[in-house]
Amino acid sequence: MRLGLRVRIVVLLGALLGLTFAPLYFAISTYAQLSLQRAREDSARSLGRVIGAYVSVARVERSPVALDSLLEAQVGGSGVSAIGVYGPDGLQQAARGERELLPARVVAATEELTRLQGEHGAALAVRIPDAHGAVVTVLRVDDEVAQTAPLTRLVAGYMGLLALALLLAAYFALTRLIVRPLDALRLAAQRVEGGARRLEAPRASTRELDELGVSLQAMTERLLAQEQALRGQVTEIERATAELHQAQAELIRSERLASVGRLSAGLAHEVGNPLSALIGLQDLLLLGGLSPEEERDFLQRMRLETERIQGIVRDLLQFARPERGAPESLPAPPGDVAAALHETLSLLKPQRSFQDMQIELTVEPALPRVVLGTPQLVQVILNLALNAADACGGRGQLRLQARLAAGQIELVVEDDGPGVAPEVRARLFEPFVTTKEVGAGTGLGLAVCRGLVEGVAGTLSLEPGEARGARFVVRLPVSDAQS
Ligand SMILES: Nc1ncnc2c1ncn2[C@@H]1O[C@H](COP(=O)(O)OP(=O)(O)OP(=O)(O)O)[C@@H](O)[C@H]1O
Ligand SMILES: [Mg+2]
Repeated sequence: MRLGLRVRIVVLLGALLGLTFAPLYFAISTYAQLSLQRAREDSARSLGRVIGAYVSVARVERSPVALDSLLEAQVGGSGVSAIGVYGPDGLQQAARGERELLPARVVAATEELTRLQGEHGAALAVRIPDAHGAVVTVLRVDDEVAQTAPLTRLVAGYMGLLALALLLAAYFALTRLIVRPLDALRLAAQRVEGGARRLEAPRASTRELDELGVSLQAMTERLLAQEQALRGQVTEIERATAELHQAQAELIRSERLASVGRLSAGLAHEVGNPLSALIGLQDLLLLGGLSPEEERDFLQRMRLETERIQGIVRDLLQFARPERGAPESLPAPPGDVAAALHETLSLLKPQRSFQDMQIELTVEPALPRVVLGTPQLVQVILNLALNAADACGGRGQLRLQARLAAGQIELVVEDDGPGVAPEVRARLFEPFVTTKEVGAGTGLGLAVCRGLVEGVAGTLSLEPGEARGARFVVRLPVSDAQS
């Protein structure tokens, strides 16, 4: 349990008062006892000397019997409980009263005061030397502790009352000066916590707490002002963000329009060439006057140009809707990357453009199947490998790798050619982007590849390789069906 401020301070004060008053109390009671004891001893000594002198005269002038009666007369009065008379040899010559308190022999002939503990309480023995030996007078004394008890009780009571009064005063002062103003401040702060907009600091009677209240009030007011400023900024940011979104949407729209424009231009260019050839050939045919062989040759050339257009249209369709590449719209069976690689190489190797290419194939054993079908895999690898051979001018190194990485199949097609030209890099995967001459390439290969790969949630990208050349990386998800 956590104690309150007031209780803690009062307990601390109580402990401090205890620590201060306890030694003071002991000092006072000890001092009183010692003073009493010293006064007693002084009076015992005086009485002892008087009796000693009296007895000393008597033992010279009177007979032993008269001395005895004199001693008898002294015992009992003024608290004297025994008197002993000793000769020059130190032996006891006469004694009266409580003899057991008297020494049998006096050793030294000097004045001495001894404290004794008799049957009836404490006693003081005063030894007074004289010309014929010594006189020992024993006086009963009361216990000093008991004697000083009323005084020490009084002191203790006074101290207790004083401590209580101090603690009470501290408790009430703390309540009035600190605890109540602090409670009022706490309540005001709780109101702010509960949603109040301003902290109404109550006036406190102490300067520090009053200043604290004023500062807290000023602080909430400043926070309020800052919050309002912040709100303004947030509104401003929201407005700017909305504008930005709009600008971005417009940019995307114009970029889309631009790519549609580029696509159309590319399409017009690619289809335009064979169409012009077709029209020219048809014009010649319509003019007539051709030999049957010439007519047949023209028709064959027209057929080739038409096939070229058909090829472009087919590729475009595949780029636009790769998932419908196969007309039988059943989901394609999972593809085998290793098999696709081998099949592609068997297709490529006999080709003249591949005669002088060095091919390096690295396939991790037992690769799982992927979501893209084997024929589509072959198409992708074929396109990438043909591009590599074109870039190397048919003379270079082609590295093909397949491995399992981070739960996906990673297929790398890398060559040591000149690398992708900077002017096409930004739009590399757009249709009709090519650096090849008219008729040599349509610029559809990479666009179709990316369409196929992204159609099954895979990725195709150009990545920086270790050496020069181009490094294309295909990442494909592993198929759930592994048969
Ligand atoms: N391995 C490569 N090294 C250097 N440049 C490349 C490489 N692969 C592609 N490119 C560049 O990317 C362009 C686009 O390639 P893409 O395969 O899309 O079309 P293409 O090969 O020009 O024509 P298509 O494949 O339609 O016959 C190429 O013209 C070439 O400039
Ligand atoms: Mg190509």
